[in-house]
Order: sequence, then C-alpha cells, then structure tokens
Amino acid sequence: MEYGPAPESTKEAQAWLEQRGRQFGLFINNEWSEAGELFASINPANGAKLADLTQGTAADVDRAVAAARAAQPGWQALGGHGRAKIMYAIARLMQKHARLFAVLETLDNGKTIRETRDVDLPLVARHFYHHAGWAQLLAEEFADHRAVGVVGQIVPWNFPLLMLAWKIAPALAAGNTVVFKPAEFTSLTALLFADICVQAGVPAGVVNIVTGDGRVGEAIVKHAGIDKLAFTGSTEVGRLIREASAGSGKKLSLELGGKSPFIVFEDADLDAAVEGLVDSIWFNQGQVCCAGSRLLVQESVQDKFLDKLRARMDKLTLGSPLDKSMDIGALVDPVQKQRIEGLVQSARDEGCTVYQPACELPADGSWFPPTLITGASTAAAVAQAEIFGPVLVAMSFRTPPEAVQLANNTVYGLAACVWTENISLALDVAPAIKAGVVWINTANQFDAACGFGGYRESGYGREGGREGMYEYMTALSEDARPAAPVVEPKAKPKAVPASGGVFAIDRTAKMYIGGKQARPDGAYSRAIHGADGEFIAEVGEGSRKDIRNAVEAAHKATGWTKATAHNRAQVLYYIAENLAARGEEFAARIAAMTGSKNAEKEVQASIERLFYYAAWADKYDGLAHQPPMHGITVALNEPLGVIGIVCPNEAPLLGFISLVAPAIALGNRVVVVPSEAHPLSATDLYQVFDTSDLPAGVVNIITGSADELARTLATHGDIDAVWRHDGSAEGCAEVERLSASTLKRTWVGGAKGRDWYSTAQAGGRAVLAHASQVKNIWIPYGV
Ligand code: NAI
Repeated sequence: MEYGPAPESTKEAQAWLEQRGRQFGLFINNEWSEAGELFASINPANGAKLADLTQGTAADVDRAVAAARAAQPGWQALGGHGRAKIMYAIARLMQKHARLFAVLETLDNGKTIRETRDVDLPLVARHFYHHAGWAQLLAEEFADHRAVGVVGQIVPWNFPLLMLAWKIAPALAAGNTVVFKPAEFTSLTALLFADICVQAGVPAGVVNIVTGDGRVGEAIVKHAGIDKLAFTGSTEVGRLIREASAGSGKKLSLELGGKSPFIVFEDADLDAAVEGLVDSIWFNQGQVCCAGSRLLVQESVQDKFLDKLRARMDKLTLGSPLDKSMDIGALVDPVQKQRIEGLVQSARDEGCTVYQPACELPADGSWFPPTLITGASTAAAVAQAEIFGPVLVAMSFRTPPEAVQLANNTVYGLAACVWTENISLALDVAPAIKAGVVWINTANQFDAACGFGGYRESGYGREGGREGMYEYMTALSEDARPAAPVVEPKAKPKAVPASGGVFAIDRTAKMYIGGKQARPDGAYSRAIHGADGEFIAEVGEGSRKDIRNAVEAAHKATGWTKATAHNRAQVLYYIAENLAARGEEFAARIAAMTGSKNAEKEVQASIERLFYYAAWADKYDGLAHQPPMHGITVALNEPLGVIGIVCPNEAPLLGFISLVAPAIALGNRVVVVPSEAHPLSATDLYQVFDTSDLPAGVVNIITGSADELARTLATHGDIDAVWRHDGSAEGCAEVERLSASTLKRTWVGGAKGRDWYSTAQAGGRAVLAHASQVKNIWIPYGV
C-alpha cells in the first residue's frame, strides 16, 4: 500500500518570517541591529529563499563581546537559583514553541520533520532543563570553581538548534555570558531563539547572536575579550582555531569530525542491527559527526547482513522533509552534494561496488540517495575521509581483535557502535575502541546528562553532564597561581663529546629510555652548575632521535595501562618508599643544584605527593548515568596514552613528581623533560624507579633544551598530550600552536608558575582530568 503525502504546515514559520520582513540584523544586548551586508538563507529542499541575514563584521563582534562583558557580573550575581529560573523558562518556552522551531529548522536545514520534531526539539528542551538544574546546584557541586567569563561559541549546520542548546545551556548555567555564531547555512532557529531569550527574561548582553560566515568565526576566535572558545565543526577549522588561539590563555573545547565504526558481530540480532544502522548513517542524511559511516561486519554473517541491509535501503523513503512519512530529507547545500558525489565517484573509480536503491530524487534542491559501498580498501578515501552524507562503507573482519584494529584505523575517535548479544564481548571491545562514545546495541543516543566528545582528532572537551560543566568553569586555585620564577640554566650546551677527555671520570648523568640508562644519540652534553657556580655534572643533550626512542618505548609499555589501578598504586607507594630511603641524598642534590634551604621539605613533599596520587589511582572512578532510556551509560575515565611532559625549574623534584605521578597513576606512559636548569634530581630518580617495580617504558627521561624537546613532543605523531609547566609563555604558546597538527591535548602553565607544595594548585581532580578522557558507554537492557 502506498501512503499519501502527510505534509506538516509551514504557516506559523512563514508568518514569523513575514512578520520579521524576511530580513534580520544581529542580536546584541537584547536589541536587533539594523541589517548590514546581507546573504540569503535558502531552503535546501527546493532552493527557495527564506530570508536575508546579516554578515557580521569584526566591529559587530566587538560590540557583542563588550555587551557580554558588561552583562557577565550581573548574570553571575543573579546566583544559581536566579539563573535556574530563567533557564527553566527557556526550556518551557522551547517546548511551547516546539512545532514552530521544528518546522523552521526543517525549512532551513532540509532535515526531516520527523527528526526535528521527535529528536532535536525534545533534546533541546531537555538540555535547558538539565542545565537549569546545574545552575541551581552550582554553589554546592562546583564550590571550588567560578565562571570563565565571556565565551565565544561557533557551531555547524547539521544540528543548528541542538548545537545551540549544547553550547549555550552549560555556559549560562555556570554564569558565563555568550557570543554565539550559528552556521551561515542555518541561522534561523538561533534568531528565533533570541526572541525566546527576551521572553524568558534573559538580561541584556547575556546571549548575543552574530550571524555570518567563517570571518565572524575568525573575529570571535582572535578577540582578546573572550575567555573561552567552544567549537563544533570540521577538523580543518578546529585545527585553525587551535593555532589561532595558541598562547592566548583562552580555554578551548573542540568537537570535530568522525569516521565512526559500526561493528556487527556474528551473534548480533541482525534485524535490530540493520535498524540501528539506519539510525546511525541515514539519520540526518548522514550529516552527523558521529554517524556510523564504516560498517564492520563479521565475515560469517556478512552476506546475510548486507542482503538484509540492501532490502531495508530499498524501503527508505526520500522526499520533502516536511512530509512526516519521509526517512531522508535534503542535504544542507549543493556544495555538500558535490563533495559527497566526488567521494562516491572516487570509490567507483577504484572499482568498488556502489549500491543505491532506485529512488526518484526531487527535481529541485540538494539530494543524495542512501548509498552502500563495498569492496573499498582500508586506505581508500571513502574509508578514511569524513563523507558527511548518506554513504556507508562496508568491510568485514574475522575476529574481535581484528574488528578493534579496523575500528581504530582512523585519525578520528568520536563514536562507535558494537552489536552483539554477548555482553562479555561487548564490554571487552568497548574499552579497546578509541572513541569518546560507544553505543552497545543502539546508535546515536544523546542525553544532556551524558558527556559527548572525541578522542584523537575528533577533538577534546566534553559537552553534557558534569564533565561538560567543567568546560565552562575555572578552578579558583588557578587564580591564586604565582608568577613563575625566572630560572636561567647556568650554562649553554657544550658541543663536545659527552665524557670529556680520555682520563676524565664520566660525570654525565644518563637519560632513561625503556627502563635503561641511555646516552644521548647525538653524544653531546651540557654542564650543570650548582647554585655556587661550581660544575656538578653533565647531562645528555637530548635530540629528536632520543624523543623518538622514548616514545617507542612508552608505546611498548601497554601492560601499564592494562594493569589494575591497585597495582599502579602499589608501584607509586614503592617509589615513595625507596625515595624516602634515599631522602638525604636527594635533599643534598637539590640543595647543591638550587641552593634551596628547603631541600628536605621538597623531598618530603615529593614523597607525600607520590602517596597522594597512589591514593587517587584507584579512586578516580567514572560515573553511571541513568539517561531517559531503558539502560545505563557508564562514563569511564580512561588514560590518554603517551604524555610528553616538560617540568618546571622551580622545585625540580617536587615539580617532576607532581606531573609524572598523576599521569602514570591513571595508566598513562610518559616522556619527561626534567627541569632544564636543575635536571639531576630527575636523572637520579631512575635508580629509584629501577628498584620500585616500575615497568620499563612507563617513565622515560630525556634531558636537554626545554624549548627544543617541547617542540619535538608537540609535533610528534604518536604522542597523545603535551604538558608544559616551565613558566615559558612563548614556549607554552608554541606547544599549543604545534599541537594543532595532530590535535593533541595540551596542558600548559604559561607565564604563571604553581605553588607545587599546595595540593589545591598541584593536585585534585583538575589535574587528574588533564591525565584522562571520558568514554561514555551506552548499555541498553531489557527484552
Ligand atoms: P566548518 O567547520 O567550516 O564550519 C563550522 C562553523 O565554523 C561554521 O559556523 C563556520 O562559519 C565556522 N567557521 C568556518 N571557518 C572558520 C574559521 N576560520 N574560524 C572560525 N570559524 C569558522 O564546516 P563546513 O564547511 O560547514 O563543512 C565542511 C565539512 O566539515 C563537512 O563536509 C563535514 O565533513 C565537516 N563538518 C563536521 C561537523 C561535525 O559536527 N563534526 C559539522 C559540520 C561540518
């Protein structure tokens, strides 16, 4: 039986556009500016113009930032309850006007009304309700944090209103004010949201909306009056933003692209998996950052599964997005269609099989049929690039380890689906997949209480839940940090062979790589002098090659990450015990190097810090969320992998321990550059490590120039994060800039130092958060 069309009425949405004269200025300080240079907002389903929008300028961004800055203290002073009431009012109004928003979104974006009505709008309202709750509880739950200040937020076009909610709700809850830029293709629901803000009683300047293309984004990114940037969009632009904001001190969260695997094991409920796949790759025309765009199916069921899939594809309906019976709507813009066509053609050119059901595409607008590609190599463009369209690439695997290996064979790490009836297999595979979200026997589930965000080049930071709130706050202890003392190394490296003359006693402290003492590859060394100017010893001048060897050793030490937290804690306690046994020797070394009168105190504090992180090792637990689905979402704190660390010059032992201990307590392996001026406490430590059951490769120590070694760490392809805390503002900015190449996480101290003796400044969950990333595993249950 054929169904007749069931179109949703556009009357209300068109009336709103008419009422506004189909022309919009910018929303700054709760006022609408005169329209400026205009660009058209088009309905991608038929090419019709919906309205003219203003291309914002740098001067407009200035005005918006000024309004936000002026409004921030008042917004904060409203208090948690005051803000909660307004956010609750927003949530209520979004529900009241849900139909208008849903239709406007469908007109503007081309996505089906079924999705805007049943997915986007309910999630938007839920986000404001949930975050009204965080505002209410803020003083209690985040007592040691404050709002960041003014935040700049830039979103893409695939979920225009939902991304707005994801960005604005946590920012407002925490007490920030906002300069928000919607995507140029899809700004209308953000402009309608401005009306809601006024109705809900959001004070002037708290939410400012500046429309326009990437130039507005650039102006926001480089504006000195912005304290935090939150971006969702392409990995390319994410990289540009990381580079452009390096050294600015702005907090940054990036939610970028993906190429997420959808893994089907042979024991899966194949019919359910097919339905999951429809939601995974054909939801929103595949224009979803976490779309399950790579099907990995176990070889034994491959043919059967693909037959079922093709049969299901034949039944997908494509057509007017306003028709309630349509599964697939229009692509956002012809430019997106061209991009998808180009990638699918590349697969055809490489001899892949391209399956598309026989469906008639509407004459006007941008459309693309559901597409299945088989026979692609793992290196093919369609298997690696984010297509961002309704295109699925299928491959097979034989064993679970092969599935994991294929799943991780991408630079991205946003999401993954695992389909199996075997819970043991699912929970074995989920932690092995490098992705921020794993859905077991489900797909594309989202909730305000559960964090969302990527691993690797899919970005960093989380949106939603408690961890999402931290993105919009600053720890109070950060405000108390002192300026870093300037500590100049006493001597420049000597371009002479390490051991001096033939009869000289070799006083060169070795580096430490893979559990072994190592001479520098370049065989050069630098002299280390004491506080009194006397020569103490030489240390190796570490090079790119030494870092490479150290990273290789760190990568081999995977056993550390798999070890239980209890075991890691035992090793940290053991290191503390062995350090205590040689406490006097270490204190004497610190005193000789730095002239410190507090050397004994520093050793004691280092021992205590080791105990501190040993204690944390098995207590930094994740969370179990109960989202509005029949199931649980388990938020795990996972290690990042390999972290490069550049240590401070002040407190050379305590600084080293304060950075290395939290990293390894959580299962990371590290490549550490100790204090450039006073490296000998670190090189002495390997004797302690050797007697403390620390496995080879977990801690690797490379001495030498902090600047050069930091540069190498920041550009290395196999390092997951770089921390730099030696007080060099320029060096920290460079680390942030260079980290953009592989979108490594960074934690830099800038020109400020840290009171390394203070647990508030050198300890706590904030440090552990830098050493870990949250993976949310969704586990539905029931029959
Ligand atoms: P995009 O990353 O260029 O745009 C996202 C947002 O960033 C828009 O608001 C845009 O105006 C803004 N922007 C552009 N250049 C900027 C700059 N230099 N500085 C600051 N802001 C800037 O994404 P686009 O061009 O719309 O889509 C291209 C491809 O990106 C898609 O085909 C898809 O592969 C990917 N993409 C991924 C998304 C995701 O959620 N992961 C969302 C949108 C696109």
